[in-house]
Formats: sequence, C-alpha cells, structure tokens
Amino acid sequence: MNTSRCNTCGEKAVIFMRQHRLPLCKTHYLEWFIEQSERAIKKYGMFTHHDKILVAVSGGKDSLSLWDVLWRLGYQADGLYINLGIDGEDHYSLQSKNYTVSFAAERNLNLHIFDVAAETGKNIIQLYKQSQRRKGRPCSVCGVVKRHIMNETTRNYQYNVLATGHNLDDEAAVLFSNTLSWSVEYLARQFPVLEEEEGFARKVKPFCRFYERESAAYALLRGINYIEEECPFSDNSTSLYYKRLLNQLEDAQPGTKIRFFSNFIEARKKGALFQAPESEKVVLNPCPVCGQPTGSSGKCYYCRITAPTVVENNDDFPPDVMSFG
Ligand code: AMP
Ligand code: FES
Ligand code: ZN
Ligand code: ZN
Repeated sequence: MNTSRCNTCGEKAVIFMRQHRLPLCKTHYLEWFIEQSERAIKKYGMFTHHDKILVAVSGGKDSLSLWDVLWRLGYQADGLYINLGIDGEDHYSLQSKNYTVSFAAERNLNLHIFDVAAETGKNIIQLYKQSQRRKGRPCSVCGVVKRHIMNETTRNYQYNVLATGHNLDDEAAVLFSNTLSWSVEYLARQFPVLEEEEGFARKVKPFCRFYERESAAYALLRGINYIEEECPFSDNSTSLYYKRLLNQLEDAQPGTKIRFFSNFIEARKKGALFQAPESEKVVLNPCPVCGQPTGSSGKCYYCRITAPTVVENNDDFPPDVMSFG
C-alpha cells in the first residue's frame, strides 16, 4: 500500500491513519472528518437538525473543531466558554477565551461566556484553596465547577443537549483509569450519549471516536486558531500518564485505543456490562440553593465551594476518578 498517496484521488497525502490503513490528501481528509462526525451523531442518535445544541468550548482543538463541524453541517449550535481565571505567566484562560471569541465572531455564532470570578467572587484557584481539598491539583474542583455551569447553562437557556469535545484519547484514558480501579458506577455511565435525567441535561460526545491527532489535524488543515498549551495544572496528571501508556500500546499495535473503547461501548449497548444494580444507585436530591441534583442531603458541592465561607464537610466530594467532563 502506498501510504504517501491519497486513497481517494491519488494526490499527495497529508495524513496516514494507521489504524484505518487510510492515507488522505487535505481535501479528502476534511471531507472524511466531517462524514465521520455525522456518522457518529447518527449512530448514537445524538441530536437532529431540530435540536438546540450547546457546545462547551475551551478554546482547544477538539471543542473548536467540533463547533466548526456542527456549524458546517448546519446544526443549531451555540457555544459556552467558561472563564476559569487561570492567568499565570502564559495567561491560559485569557488566551483560550480570545481564541474562542475570535472563532465565534468569524462565523457569526452565539457564544455564552461564564466568568467564574465575576459570578462567584473567586477564580478557580481561589475556590480550590477554599475547598480544603489542597492535596494535588485543582482539577477535581475545576471539574465540579465546569460540569455544574455546563448543566445549568444548558437547562437555563433550554438547549436540548450539551456537546463536549472529548476525543478518543480522553475516553480511552478514562476507561483505562476506571477499569484499573473497577469503578463500576463510573463504567456504567461512560457512553457517547447520557440521557437527560433528574435535573441533568442530555450530554453527548460526538468526537469520542476520533484520535487526538485527527482532531488536531482537522483544526490545522481547516486553519482554526486554537490554544496549543494544556492547562498548566495538567502536567504530570494521572490522565496524561495513562494517555502516554495507551500511546505506547497504540504504537506497537495500531488500533488498540479504538478497539479498547469501541468494544467496550458495543458490549455496553448489548447490556453485557455494568448495569449498576437499582439498590446501589445514588439517590439524588435537589440542592436547596441552586436546585441542581446532588447526592448530598444538603447543598451541592458547587454551592458549598462557591459560598463565602469555608467548606466544613469534605466527605462526599466526588472521587478523582474521571467520569463525564
Ligand atoms: P478537558 O476536561 O479540558 O479535557 O475538556 C473536555 C471538554 O470539556 C472540552 O472538549 C470542552 O468541550 C469542555 N471544556 C473544557 N474546558 C472548558 C471551558 N473552560 N469552557 C467550556 N468548555 C470547556
Ligand atoms: Fe481546570 Fe486545569 S484545573 S482546566
Ligand atoms: Zn484526495
Ligand atoms: Zn447547588
């Protein structure tokens, strides 16, 4: 097989996807990427052209590419950028916000901006310090805050569905982590679509079958400007470690990541895996402050960490194992 020539037209290939044994030129890669996105949307019944979609955009390659693809496919997709206020030397939040704002302006798209510091009086680092959960990094507090805001915005503005830019590398790393610890509850919830339930908006991950390098290639070839730096706190994170391990497996055996994730999803679809027993399901109550569902008997974690006083009880803080978002 000639891997340097496009499989469709024979022109010079710009990418070779080893796992699909598919070399493509720029034109046919951009076409292929959009077709695959549409196929995933339909395969999992994510949404239709009648739905109002909210895309959570971080300013990175995945979520901006996702928004671009949905826009090109004619879906009604608005954006949500959450400004976390991570503004060290490289002004991470400010830069990612600027990329997102320019992207939306160039395409005349609607963008909601939620500024954590303006809304709660504290940026994410200050909230993390106040949370008393100072072991490690702010990522778990940040995850709670982002999920809360995404859910709230989707529901308050009556979007039918929330779409995030999680890619295959993200999903495979989460699956790997949850499998290593046999976190059955989290495994039971890992799926490209999470239906609306008890105060939680419907959530979808249209890019969950794209390798990270594929969405990076799409952004690059499409000329999308995005923030290349990762969040400064992601260095040495467990998730990055798992991604590196999975990449080693992928190098040795192309297709490992997609098989690992897709076969898990297919087994789940057949009901062959991880049906959390009814008796073990967490009972959710509406938070007395914000109304969002919480496993806690009082205020939800978001309302506790964004309250002016220090959090007293840390027992029911969500574990570090990643689930959605
Ligand atoms: P991450 O958790 O950084 O891997 O991001 C996963 C997905 O969450 C991204 O693809 C976005 O869809 C969404 N996301 C992450 N950070 C933000 C943010 N600051 N604002 C809005 N959406 C975000
Ligand atoms: Fe939230 Fe890094 S701590 S993006
Ligand atoms: Zn071609
Ligand atoms: Zn609350």
